[in-house]
Amino acid sequence: MMHTLHGFLIFSLLTCLGLNALGSEIINGKNAIDKRMLYMASVQNKEGKHICGGFLISEDLVVTAAHCDPSNPTSVVLGTHNLKKVDDKTMRYTVKRCKNQSYKNVSSGNDIMLLKLTKKARLSKRVQLIKLPKPNNKKVLRKCQVAGWGHTSTGGENVDALRVVDVPFINLDICKREWKSIGVALPDNVICAGGYDTTKGFCQGDSGGPLVCNGEAVGVVSFNMRRNCDYPNIPNIYTDISKYLQLIKDVRNKKTC
Ligand SMILES: *[C@@H]1O[C@H](CO)[C@@H](O)[C@H](O)[C@H]1NC(C)=O
Ligand SMILES: *[C@@H]1O[C@H](CO)[C@@H](O)[C@H](O)[C@H]1NC(C)=O
Repeated sequence: MMHTLHGFLIFSLLTCLGLNALGSEIINGKNAIDKRMLYMASVQNKEGKHICGGFLISEDLVVTAAHCDPSNPTSVVLGTHNLKKVDDKTMRYTVKRCKNQSYKNVSSGNDIMLLKLTKKARLSKRVQLIKLPKPNNKKVLRKCQVAGWGHTSTGGENVDALRVVDVPFINLDICKREWKSIGVALPDNVICAGGYDTTKGFCQGDSGGPLVCNGEAVGVVSFNMRRNCDYPNIPNIYTDISKYLQLIKDVRNKKTC
C-alpha cells in the first residue's frame, strides 16, 4: 500500500517538473495582465528552457520549489510574461542554488528552495518584488491567485504567455481529510488552495510559482494528486511560506549561500 502511494507521489513530483506532463497550463485561467505579477520568474536550465516558476522577494532572491533542484536550474528570467521575448542581456540572471538539507522529497515537505542571483536585479516598471506574509499567517486567506507557464501536453512546449487563475483557499482540516481519503498523510507546513470544489488550479510545470493572497506570496506550488489536473478532485498543495521566514532571512543576510 505505502509503496503504491509513494509511487503516486514520485509520479506527481516528476510530472511537476514537466518530465511527463499530460495536463495543460494553469487550469481554466487567463493570460496575466502585462502590468501585474511583475515578481514572476521563469526558472530555467542551462539550455534556457523553462523548468519551474519562481518569484522575486528581494533584489537578489527568487523563491522556487526544492523539487525543481534535480532539473538543474542555472538562471531566472525576470521582466517578461512572454517567454518568447527574452532578452538575455537584460532579463536573464544567473543563480546559485541555496539548498536546505531539510528537504528530502515532496511527500515529506519543506519543498522550498532559494535562488541567489549573482548580480542584483534592476527593479523597474517591469520587475518588482512581492511581499512575504507575517510569521503567524491567518488561518483563512482570501482573494488568492496562482500563476505559471506550465506545459500544454505530454512532452509538449511551455506556454509562452503567463497564465493566472483565482483559486479558493481550502481549510487545512478539510484538505487533510481529502488527502487521507486517498491514503496520503500531508506533510507539515503546507497550505491548500484550488483543485477541489472548483475547476481551477495549477498543473504540471507550474511548480515553484507563488500562491498570492491579498498581495502577499503565501505559498509555493508543490504538488497535486498524481498528474490529474481535471478539477475538481483533491486539493492542490503549496508550501506554507510563513513557516520558512527565518530560513529566508538567513539566506538574505548572506552574501552567498
Ligand atoms: C521521503 O523522505 C522521508 C524522510 O527521509 C522518507 O522517510 C520517505 O520514505 C521518503 N519518501 C519517498 C517516496 O522517497
Ligand atoms: C534548513 O531549514 C531549517 C528549517 O527552517 C533550519 O532549521 C535549518 O537551519 C536549515 N538548514 C540549512 C543548512 O540552511
